[in-house]
Amino acid sequence: MKKVLAFAGSNHSKSIHYQLIETISAQSLMEGVDIHLLDIRSWDIPIYSIDMDPDQTPELITKLIGHIQESDGFIIASPEHNGGTPAFFKNILDWLSRRAKKVFDNKPILLMSTSPGGGGGATNRKFLEHTLPYQGATIAASYGLPSFQQNVVDGKLADDQAVLLQESIAKLQAALNG
Ligand SMILES: Cc1cc2nc3c(=O)[nH]c(=O)nc-3n(C[C@H](O)[C@H](O)[C@H](O)COP(=O)(O)O)c2cc1C
Repeated sequence: MKKVLAFAGSNHSKSIHYQLIETISAQSLMEGVDIHLLDIRSWDIPIYSIDMDPDQTPELITKLIGHIQESDGFIIASPEHNGGTPAFFKNILDWLSRRAKKVFDNKPILLMSTSPGGGGGATNRKFLEHTLPYQGATIAASYGLPSFQQNVVDGKLADDQAVLLQESIAKLQAALNG
């Protein structure tokens, strides 16, 4: 069975991106795949500096690289802060880029974002679609959910959005099997 690593690039204890990833398992939207939901919300990782090269590496970064290397694909949900990637997640991406060459190794990613408002984090998602391939990512699908609180009630995604998300998941599954 293919292994998919799912995580949200947020350190918010009530992260809506983490909740979005949880809905995939809760609604059984991805069957026949072994999903590993990695909770990184409490990860405290020092801000990367070139001064830490080459011999200071946070243990959690080594752990994350291990999870990435043993996975066949990824579901990554990233918030948008001021039109860009939150410092918490950008810092992790910078660490990964310095400790593993093209860490995602051409494996497929379903990129997701959401927001309380109508934009669904689309500006940052576009940015990540452009930049993650520098780290070896193949973007198999990109899904944005606007107005999280209206579209996810009691942990359940609205039917029309579940259909759209399912289409993105199908693209990820096709890439995993392709
Ligand atoms: C510093 C900051 C900047 C934000 N900037 C944006 C933004 O540019 N676009 C947007 O859609 N939401 C923005 N938001 C709202 C986030 O979408 C919202 O906080 C969301 O809950 C973040 O996802 P998370 O809960 O998974 O961390 C911002 C929030 C913060 C705290």
